[in-house]
Amino acid sequence: MKKDFLAVNDFSAKEIQEVLQMALAFKMGRLKTKPLAGKTAALIFHKPSLRTRVSFEVGITRLGGSSIYLRQEEIDLGKRESIADVARVLSRYVGLIVIRTYSQADVEELARRASCPVINALTDLSHPCQILGDLLTVYEKFKKKEKFSIAYLGDGNNITNSWLELATQVPIDLRIGTSDSTWPDRNLLKAARKAGKSQVKLTSNPAEAVSGVEVVYTDVWASMGQKHLADEKRRLLADFQVNAALLRKAAPGAIVLHCLPAKRGEEITDEVMDGPQSAVFDQAENRLWIQMGIISHLVQSSKKRK
Ligand code: CP
Ligand code: NVA
Repeated sequence: MKKDFLAVNDFSAKEIQEVLQMALAFKMGRLKTKPLAGKTAALIFHKPSLRTRVSFEVGITRLGGSSIYLRQEEIDLGKRESIADVARVLSRYVGLIVIRTYSQADVEELARRASCPVINALTDLSHPCQILGDLLTVYEKFKKKEKFSIAYLGDGNNITNSWLELATQVPIDLRIGTSDSTWPDRNLLKAARKAGKSQVKLTSNPAEAVSGVEVVYTDVWASMGQKHLADEKRRLLADFQVNAALLRKAAPGAIVLHCLPAKRGEEITDEVMDGPQSAVFDQAENRLWIQMGIISHLVQSSKKRK
């Protein structure tokens, strides 16, 4: 049976550490395997992307494979033909499918029907590849793999949800600072608390969220597909901007992360994003290494399960 990566907790805590190890080995030049040799990957993107698309394309090439980029206009997934039929046909040509779209259910349907591994490259609900790359960045910056504290400030979106999923597997002191109207997914919040692995706190007080914290994280206030809500989100989230004054309340050596793209001047100021505590471009680079780790792990596990 093949293995997919549709949500962070599709990987056990042990698998997450294995993927991180592999990503780091690729980064250090210690691992040079080519598990995609002779294979092609289909990259289905229904939303724009810089980091995810390019890191997947470059990563796939480095792993010995090639990729085909398919935009919504090309295959019109679920409209021109059913998701199941697209999955069955693509599985006859390619060894991996990477998909960025709106609905998590569509990605799950595609994965159920495909006979090759499927990777979620972002949905409205989650962005699992991003969060594993972020974990690599945190471990690298602090040179340890122990519990860390992180404050996520802003919209309770796919990034927040994937942090909640990570909190079920990896011990984190996770604080979410958001308005009462912009909470993350309630089921994922409940599950993260129930898992008992991490401390998960939600507050509408930004200063309380960042107090003494080691990592400060933010993301755009209006995600892709929600741009019509931009004015409302700006009004709701103005107090959650990551600026120099707020950052001073974090731990002295705190780092700042942002998955990017950023709306400078909204959720983050230039001063913070370009300041000495910002790790956002190292974080962006790590997308490449983590994609290589994720793909290698899926190809290996799918082989073992045959
Ligand atoms: N962080 C991220 O996924 O960026 P892109 O939308 O550019 O892929
Ligand atoms: N929350 C953002 C993440 C972009 C990588 C979005 O979905 O647009």
